[in-house]
Amino acid sequence: MTHFVPGPLERDAPFYIAGHRGLVGSAIWRKLESEGFTNLHGQTSSELDLKDRSAVSSYMASLQPRYLVLAAAKVGGILANNTYPVDFLTENLQIQVNVLDAAREQNVERVLFLGSSCIYPKLAPQPIREDSLLTGHLEPTNDAYAIAKIAGIMHVQAVRRQYGLPWISAMPTNLYGPGDNFSPEGSHVLPALIRRYDEAARSGNSAVTNWGTGSPRREFLHVDDMAEACLHLLEHYDGPEQVNVGTGSDVTIKELAETVASAVGFEGSIEWDTSKPDGTPQKLLDVSKLANAGWTAKMNLQDGVMDTVNWYRANQSGLRN
Ligand SMILES: NC(=O)c1ccc[n+]([C@@H]2O[C@H](COP(=O)([O-])OP(=O)(O)OC[C@H]3O[C@@H](n4cnc5c(N)ncnc54)[C@H](OP(=O)(O)O)[C@@H]3O)[C@@H](O)[C@H]2O)c1
Repeated sequence: MTHFVPGPLERDAPFYIAGHRGLVGSAIWRKLESEGFTNLHGQTSSELDLKDRSAVSSYMASLQPRYLVLAAAKVGGILANNTYPVDFLTENLQIQVNVLDAAREQNVERVLFLGSSCIYPKLAPQPIREDSLLTGHLEPTNDAYAIAKIAGIMHVQAVRRQYGLPWISAMPTNLYGPGDNFSPEGSHVLPALIRRYDEAARSGNSAVTNWGTGSPRREFLHVDDMAEACLHLLEHYDGPEQVNVGTGSDVTIKELAETVASAVGFEGSIEWDTSKPDGTPQKLLDVSKLANAGWTAKMNLQDGVMDTVNWYRANQSGLRN
């Protein structure tokens, strides 16, 4: 049994960020470095395949981290999730079970497991509260991924019950920022729009057509805010229930497209192909639990999109496939 004492984490204790090169993991690494953490550890998937149980167990035994964030996962957009559900289910289950079991063997003091808002039922009341979990059917296009993430939340809760370790889980909304995936096949809506509008602005196109009506509402959180929220939760939150991490406000996809168009300098017309499907009308997290824990988002969407566009333009040669 390890009792949680709120307050600053020790800056020189070994801290393992699983998935430290990803969108979320790299932002957490930057945040921790800027906050004076001096003993950070990460492994790329080619250095340590987290699906390899004995390799994970050996690595954890030699490192003996005091703190751990699990930001490694097989992540993708709707198309990838819908096409490869077995991969999303089994790879994420393997990564989670291997990392969390190895962390438990070493009695890692604080673990933060990251899931996603797709764990909540498709028809959950908006804004979505944490207690909506397991109250209804999931969105079928990413249900395999969501089930893996729900198993991760349960894994953390079970370790708390059986071993008394003060581990926690956080469920971020849609994230974006430096290090995002801009590939046509694998990207989420915001980086996909940045790529499309930036290409249109450069080639002087007079119009860009988007799918649907533009009316669905979505929430977007800059990944630097997400990283700050993660550190805040590790230092201040202890409880079995997962914590939603978002801004608490949403925008229409039309407003998002206009924000992106203005950030990249696209001056043509923004058009909508209303014969294409729209998806769920609204997805917004209730963030009152996070606010009660003492944290709220700082960056507005315009500044966040501009920051991401600048990163995208400066990193053309190093973009992910
Ligand atoms: N992006 C979002 O909008 C969003 C929203 C909500 C929640 N989340 C959650 O945040 C977490 C991280 O997402 P992300 O967007 O940062 O994903 P990401 O950019 O794709 O990064 C995932 C990381 O996981 C690592 N990884 C994957 N499979 C691995 C394996 N077998 N062994 C070792 N490492 C492996 C990758 O390592 P390499 O680079 O070395 O291959 C990569 O660094 C996920 O749990 C996701 O559900 C993300």
